[in-house]
Amino acid sequence: MNLKYFFVAILTVLCHWIYGQDNFITNTFNRESTSLNGYWQYIVDPYENGFYNYRYEPFENQSNPGNGAFFNNAKRKGKLDLVEYDFDKMDSLWVPGDWNSQKQELLYYEGTVWYKKSFDYKKADASNRVFVYFGGANYKTDVYLNGKKLGQHIGGFTPFQFEITHLLKDKENFFVIKVDNKRVKEGVPTLNTDWWNYGGLTRDIKLVETSETFISDYRIGLSDKSRNSIQGEIVLKGDNTSNQVVVVKIPELGVYTTLISDNEGRCTFEAKNNKIQYWSTVNPKLYEIQISTKRDDVRDRVGFRTIGTEGSDILLNGKSIFLKGISIHEESPIRGGRANTKEDALKLLTWAKDLGCNYVRLAHYPHNEYMIRMADEMGMLVWEEIPVYWTIDWENKGTFLNAQNQISEIIDRDKNRACVVIWSMANETPRSEARNSFLQRLASFTRAKDPTRLISAALEQKNVEGQTNTRTIEDDFASYVDVLSFNQYIGWYDGGVEKCKKIKWDISQNKPVIISEFGAGAKHGLHGAKDNRWTEEYQEYLYDETLMMLDKIDQLRGISPWILVDFKSPRRVLAEIQDTYNRKGLISEKGERKKAFYTLKNYYESK
Ligand code: GCU
Repeated sequence: MNLKYFFVAILTVLCHWIYGQDNFITNTFNRESTSLNGYWQYIVDPYENGFYNYRYEPFENQSNPGNGAFFNNAKRKGKLDLVEYDFDKMDSLWVPGDWNSQKQELLYYEGTVWYKKSFDYKKADASNRVFVYFGGANYKTDVYLNGKKLGQHIGGFTPFQFEITHLLKDKENFFVIKVDNKRVKEGVPTLNTDWWNYGGLTRDIKLVETSETFISDYRIGLSDKSRNSIQGEIVLKGDNTSNQVVVVKIPELGVYTTLISDNEGRCTFEAKNNKIQYWSTVNPKLYEIQISTKRDDVRDRVGFRTIGTEGSDILLNGKSIFLKGISIHEESPIRGGRANTKEDALKLLTWAKDLGCNYVRLAHYPHNEYMIRMADEMGMLVWEEIPVYWTIDWENKGTFLNAQNQISEIIDRDKNRACVVIWSMANETPRSEARNSFLQRLASFTRAKDPTRLISAALEQKNVEGQTNTRTIEDDFASYVDVLSFNQYIGWYDGGVEKCKKIKWDISQNKPVIISEFGAGAKHGLHGAKDNRWTEEYQEYLYDETLMMLDKIDQLRGISPWILVDFKSPRRVLAEIQDTYNRKGLISEKGERKKAFYTLKNYYESK
């Protein structure tokens, strides 16, 4: 074997161990579980003193790390004992939640925080298995149970899990979790972003108990052969996965299928049915599905639809659709900090609905699962992306495997969600051979793992040679995507709003075009002349002129202006105007609507 491939193979295995563990169970959302949400004691550890000894050697590599390692949750027993920490005497952080918005002293903190939670747990049946499931944690997470390392996850926005059956006791268990949100050059994202680096156990944590052999994964959707047929694949995990009876029911459609798993624990089905109501933005029809075996039972709500392109049209269920969108960051409206509840999702998507949207671009990383399931229920199409953002370390193999792992984990989580129609590979990434290769490999991996959805990315655009007022897409990756997208800021970063009147867009590719971003900053309540930057009138005028300019693009099939709500960013420091907020929102962080909100709303109503 070529040595290079040998090392890549080793790296892949290692990264699999680090990044995501085995994806034992998908769809924990509907499974019975024991929540570990609540107050967790914490220790702020910028020197990682609880992880390394004074010679900077990791305690976990030592046979007897002694009382220095925080993951042992050591207690002082005798008068001579030297223990220099005690979780039980510490303050608490709410989980799920970032630490930045919970503690003023942690607002800008980037480093390690240790969390500790003690709990009892009695299994319902001695033969059952137990997993700990994290909706997400930012950025590098090391998980220990009862002093033993379960594993590490890298990536701030995708779910991960570990089996804990072998370590769990009936009484006095303790999780100690190290979360490090330091930005690193080889990270995904890398060092520079335009959003707040919220760190911590930012999403739900729960214990999921299953029978010894259980329903690990499934994909159910419209058949790729016919719209009047439903196909599915179910995967079992455990010691007795072959020759198991698996029953699939979709009661409302009269689908009752009994299957027998093969010797790999897999079974597939195809059920013809001409009564299917297709999921759409006007009728987001979801069907109750039930998958059961002798000792396991999983429920879900699934929508059936087709998505595709034909020339420059985006086809939902075979009909051309215009994506009336808005970009959204994952910040809790009004409360601030990371959004991570059903209420947050409902509020953000209701604001988007008020705007007249049928589509949201969830920037610049996978949002929490409440957001995706709410979009399914509300009939909002979704663009999901991983944070391959700006100047990623394109030559670094570990960076590529990290990005690949993140897209893999989010496809595993959301592959049964009808609302997700676009996987975006990147945002505004500078062109180079290394970047093109990185994105092409990422797109190939994504298409292989999920051939049912469209691929896009915010591509690069530029002036046509010798024509200062003609713009075009100039990006080698354009030939790899199904939908052409790009961000353009004429009138904000590129001249004044009047410039919109002069610009022509000359796009040669016969593919759908989505303008993934445009916008202008405005401080809510600041009024003045429309040529006065930061006023609401300036933002309103830019929307007016930009929408007229973009409407001239023949292939235009969608827009997702930047952005629904003002959001926190350390880059935005202009006193009295930004005060650490990016002000391109149509709504302020206090929920106040700006004039441009109504400009976009009127445009969508006219579409
Ligand atoms: C870029 C980028 C956004 C950023 C925006 C801005 O297009 O994609 O993440 O916030 O510009 O500058 O406001």
